[in-house]
Amino acid sequence: MNYLSINDIDHLPTWIAEAIKLKSNPMEHKKLGTNKTLCLLFFNNSLRTRLSTQKAAMNLGMETMVMNFGGEGWSLEFENGTVMDQGNAEHIKEAAQVVSQFCDVVAIRAFASLTDKEKDKAEVVLNGFKKYASVPVVNMESSVGHPLQALADAITLEEHRSKSKPKVVLSWAPHPKALPHAVANSFIEMMQLQDADFVITHPKGYELNPKITAGAKIEYDQKKALKDADFVYVKNWSSYSDYGKVVSQDSGWMMTKEKLGHAKFMHCLPVRRNVVVEDAVLDSNQSLVIEQANNRTFAAQIVLKKILSPLTPEGEQKTT
Ligand code: CP
Repeated sequence: MNYLSINDIDHLPTWIAEAIKLKSNPMEHKKLGTNKTLCLLFFNNSLRTRLSTQKAAMNLGMETMVMNFGGEGWSLEFENGTVMDQGNAEHIKEAAQVVSQFCDVVAIRAFASLTDKEKDKAEVVLNGFKKYASVPVVNMESSVGHPLQALADAITLEEHRSKSKPKVVLSWAPHPKALPHAVANSFIEMMQLQDADFVITHPKGYELNPKITAGAKIEYDQKKALKDADFVYVKNWSSYSDYGKVVSQDSGWMMTKEKLGHAKFMHCLPVRRNVVVEDAVLDSNQSLVIEQANNRTFAAQIVLKKILSPLTPEGEQKTT
């Protein structure tokens, strides 16, 4: 199996329960990954994804190889039939097959360009590896999604849920740079699998891909959206319609302690203090950001465990 999007989760509540169980005994399946190697390829920077995914692999007894592909690998060509007489030195066809010979699972981080909407939607890097690699592929944040983050967020929500149907708000926040849509997209996809009162709030002009937000409640008035919230997930993203542009930096959308009320605060990190959210929130016991980051290990571990678990004769993953 691959883990490319939230849609690769067959039953979210089961995965969450298994991840929480793993958390209580992280080394329980230490033998599962013996003599197996995870290769992590980074086309972009990372702190949490890089360390938590390696930690997850180590907990399962795997070896890891990490490469900063963006800065250190040969520049890759993804188009078929190209006359490669320009900057790109290696084709994805060879690169993916070669990498597959060195490992049992390959994990890829490749952000959106935010300049070419169609190319970003086509997920050329992730899908290039999916097409030509001969080993399972894990998405460590692609142009369109960050399903390891969303799975960690689902685990965190479950651990802090005090009612069966909590109110969860995804609130846009200002940021000086144009950021991708991946975290927000996967969070929305994950929330659509949850029993929750889910609301998205953002200024006009920051509507996300309507295919992803279909059926979700969108409230342009942040104050109204935040009323009686149990969890507030804050994230910046750039415009989707005016692709990759920062169309507003309204500091009035920054999350404050007053706006948060009694809700728990969530953010994927890294976060810009006093731009996205004020210190008083991050430094309070309402903030779940460190726990979210910790749960990245168990999200990655459950994904790798599912991939490594031997298939039953019926073709189902064993859930031992
Ligand atoms: N949340 C997250 O993916 O963090 P990194 O970019 O540091 O990996």
